[in-house]
Amino acid sequence: MTGNGPGRWTIRDQRHDPALVEVHLTPKDLRSSMERDVRTGLTSSPKRLPPVYFYDERGSRLFDEITRLEEYYPTRSERSILDRNAAEIAALAGADTLVELGAGTCDKSRILLRAMEATGRLKQFVPLDVSEEVLTEAAGGLAGEFPALAVHAVVADFHRHLGVLPRSGSRMFAFLGGTIGNLDPMQRRRFFADLDCSMDPGDSLLLGTDLVKDRSRLVSAYDDAAGVTARFNRNVLHVLNRELGATFVPEEFAHVASWNEGCSWIEMRLRSERRTTVRVEALDLDVDFDEGEDLLTEISCKFTPDGLDSELAACGFVTQATWRSPADEFQLTLATPYC
Ligand code: SAH
Ligand code: TRP
Repeated sequence: MTGNGPGRWTIRDQRHDPALVEVHLTPKDLRSSMERDVRTGLTSSPKRLPPVYFYDERGSRLFDEITRLEEYYPTRSERSILDRNAAEIAALAGADTLVELGAGTCDKSRILLRAMEATGRLKQFVPLDVSEEVLTEAAGGLAGEFPALAVHAVVADFHRHLGVLPRSGSRMFAFLGGTIGNLDPMQRRRFFADLDCSMDPGDSLLLGTDLVKDRSRLVSAYDDAAGVTARFNRNVLHVLNRELGATFVPEEFAHVASWNEGCSWIEMRLRSERRTTVRVEALDLDVDFDEGEDLLTEISCKFTPDGLDSELAACGFVTQATWRSPADEFQLTLATPYC
């Protein structure tokens, strides 16, 4: 282990694994932001929790299961766009470095990496995620698959740590999976502004966004028949029980997914099936839930092509090209910062 700034971050060079893993989120950081966020969220009205706490190791595996569900079209749609258009995307971006935000299992990264390799320019892959175990495993796998590639994984929060990304080379930033939709409009503006500051002339952004469509198709993508999304949603309660000594009984919270037309987003909630008091030991906090009271755990915004274009323009990006999946379900946008 080496450090750059005592206690702030560590680099681990893994002997049997050629990927470099740089950790900016220590267990202590994670713990203190979780304590702060959970206290704020559970004492506000309506109650809410930030989505980042879904993704412990079990949550990341459950999300991976979601991506393979019949009802969950976004992953398949986005992958089909990449399969068809990765060569053109790589040629337009002309990058030698792929930076991927919220990379998770890096499943779709390899399509982009293959296409970038074919341009003869590919040098470096920088996946960033909060989920250390999943990221380390995925980065190691990709380093094995692409022996000439420098894999530099970054365990960090994309709301706070964009400034730590390596600045060398010509970079394409990929933000896939519709994860941008999990930020509310204010968080999105701040995120795009941070990103704009972290990008240099010649860098580009490849953004994956889910598009507005028929309500029932949207809702069933977030409320599948097999109940995997419900397990994923309740997983956040298991995380709070384990990490903060909370006394949630996850089975007594129902998974609710609904379409909010006015805000153009899916809302995911956990609804208390009975009146109860939950103790959060680490916060010395008792939280009362009424019967039927909701805890908002996630939003997933759905976009229109025009709305997205103006939002990007308002945040300092110029759209270079867009690709849509069959039936206009999902869109990839390649944009560059005004410089
Ligand atoms: N890009 C993948 C995974 C999407 S799921 C795909 O398209 O399938 C969202 C991913 O973002 C998860 O891996 C989660 O751990 C990560 N994530 C969520 N909030 C984050 C944050 N604040 N900072 C960094 N990563 C985050
Ligand atoms: N980025 C994914 C999305 O908005 C995350 C997601 C999918 C999700 N299913 C979920 C988050 C269920 C919470 C609960 O589509």
